[in-house]
Amino acid sequence: MAGNPIVECILSRRSIRRYRSTPPPMDIVKIVLQCGIHAPTARHCEPWAIRVVADAAALEKFDGAIVDWMRKTGHAALQFFQNSSQIHVLYHAPLLVVIAGDRGAPLAQVDCILAMENILLAAHSFGIGSCIIASVAEFLKNPAGKEWEKMFQIPKSHEPVIATVLGYSDQEEWPTAVRDGAKIVFVDGEG
Ligand SMILES: Cc1cc2nc3c(=O)[nH]c(=O)nc-3n(C[C@H](O)[C@H](O)[C@H](O)COP(=O)(O)O)c2cc1C
Repeated sequence: MAGNPIVECILSRRSIRRYRSTPPPMDIVKIVLQCGIHAPTARHCEPWAIRVVADAAALEKFDGAIVDWMRKTGHAALQFFQNSSQIHVLYHAPLLVVIAGDRGAPLAQVDCILAMENILLAAHSFGIGSCIIASVAEFLKNPAGKEWEKMFQIPKSHEPVIATVLGYSDQEEWPTAVRDGAKIVFVDGEG
């Protein structure tokens, strides 16, 4: 689909797991977040609280707290890390975006995830890499992560849904996109 920048952006985005420490310029990050909040929402609730952490020291500490919690609980995701003595769930990325959803909104989780996809794609369109980190929301919802939930100023009315790191890629190789086209089936309604 050469010539269609949106299709090219969608097809070329990949999760990035090595980052440079230099953060992307804040004016670009703000545009990326604006794209997030332009996602559709059920009943136009805009049920999210979006929190951005750009403090490198805080991110290192937060990363350590998640890894400690994962080790203590024997978290299944630990098996994905090759070097088990040096685990960094946030991959040293300079930015973390956490999206929490209003518990009272009808489809807050879906809305938050749509906002996140906009953020990933808008970031990629500016050459900024991303990787969703499942353990962030899981940790924040766990009693072990409650202090951090407060520090990230997530309102009590909201529940952490999804998070991504953002930053410039420091990967030499770009992961390939393998997708199973057979999962798409055109049906005629005759069974
Ligand atoms: C809900 C969700 C949770 C994810 N959690 C993690 C994670 O904790 N750590 C990680 O490295 N990648 C995580 N990923 C990224 C996936 O591994 C990645 O999207 C998948 O392997 C496809 O690769 P691609 O994003 O490069 O196309 C997550 C993706 C999604 C959608």
